[in-house]
Amino acid sequence: MDSLEIKGGNALRGEITISGAKNAALPLLAAALMTTDKLVLENVPRLADTLSMEGLLRHLGVAVTRDHETVTMSGGANSFDAPYDLVTKMRASVLVLGPLLARYGEARVSLPGGCAIGTRPVDLHIRAMQALGAVVELADGYIQARARKGLQGGRIMFPMVSVGGTENALMAAVLAKGESEIVNAAREPEITDLADCLNAMGAQISGHGTDTITVQGVDTLHAATHRVVADRIEAGTFAIAAVMTQGDLVLRGARDRHLDALLAVLRETGASIESQPGIIHIKSNGRPRAADITTDPFPGFPTDLQAQFMAMMCIADGSSHISETIFENRFMHVPELLRMGADIKVNGGTALVRGRASLTPAPVMATDLRASVSLVLAALATTGTSTVSRIYHLERGYSDLETKLGNCGAELCRIKA
Ligand code: EPZ
Repeated sequence: MDSLEIKGGNALRGEITISGAKNAALPLLAAALMTTDKLVLENVPRLADTLSMEGLLRHLGVAVTRDHETVTMSGGANSFDAPYDLVTKMRASVLVLGPLLARYGEARVSLPGGCAIGTRPVDLHIRAMQALGAVVELADGYIQARARKGLQGGRIMFPMVSVGGTENALMAAVLAKGESEIVNAAREPEITDLADCLNAMGAQISGHGTDTITVQGVDTLHAATHRVVADRIEAGTFAIAAVMTQGDLVLRGARDRHLDALLAVLRETGASIESQPGIIHIKSNGRPRAADITTDPFPGFPTDLQAQFMAMMCIADGSSHISETIFENRFMHVPELLRMGADIKVNGGTALVRGRASLTPAPVMATDLRASVSLVLAALATTGTSTVSRIYHLERGYSDLETKLGNCGAELCRIKA
């Protein structure tokens, strides 16, 4: 397993072009199952997770070709079975459930199992399918779902906001007979991006981006070309890196409306932020002041930026309360930050971080995607050489990270296992 050796202490200065969003690309790739016509997706980041999803689609029978960041798919599925070995590699594989049920009336998808940040059940996905008339059984570790006469439109009420649950419900409703209403829907930009693509394919979706989405079922979907929205979590990660290293970064392709909660907190810590269409400019004004955050579904502070923000609070002036409300175990980065001299006390879902003037370089280990990048940020802000091991976690969600950071003054090099 490769490691990343990071010689920290340099201010990051320059410009980074933000890639397409992983968490938009994954459901968009699954949407290819809903038509036999050609779906062309542009700006699909080359990541372990997107390549896994492309592999699963091939396994299901879809013709998939990739040319740089453009993925072309056609032909639909000739198998409806998403096996354990593919699904455990990436839990977002469960997003083939809605499309397969909607288009073929059957799906057999392995239960994803948990991951480092929590048990992450799929009960809300299953209830959504049942609300549209599917018969769902759990047997042998698989979700076995059928809708012999096709799905019927209905009211899908989410007791708690679920991004993936909303995405599966949306894709299933698009080809159901009649009208569906998704209540307490997730409002993330990735949901809006998926709905925009499905509408381009002939779906009739309205209300996406709000907590109530209405869908008029259609008989078929047709060819379309769609460009994946920029990755707000990648952009937010680099914005935090700029502040932590007392640097000055221009993020090209990022949308400020997708990062309101983060940008407001970064201004509170003392950073200067200007934005124009497709550009966010972050400039540090010295050591950041401490600030409190609580993670929330969009438009609140994203849980996927919590670990990165905690790394920043470790070197802030003052104390910060960080509350994680989305996942039950998303503080895996804490023990590793403690190894770098951070002062963090965790009590249930809240961490109290007392800022230090600086951390100390150390060998640390990545545990999950966002925890690993928070360790990279901490190392970049710390004078001396740190090593982050198990960086395969990074490759799941950040494309060309070494190049993007290296072009802005970071000194990092990959140590082959
Ligand atoms: C998506 O995961 C993202 N992944 C996650 O990003 C992100 O952290 C999460 O949304 C929240 O924003 C993708 O989009 C591929 P949820 P998802 O369903 O859909 C519970 C990253 O780092 N829940 O909104 O799995 C669940 O356990 C990843 O890029 C149920 O109880 O998240 C969690 O506590 C990490 N039952 C909460 O809801 C269900 O059926 C929110 O989960 C589904 C979810």
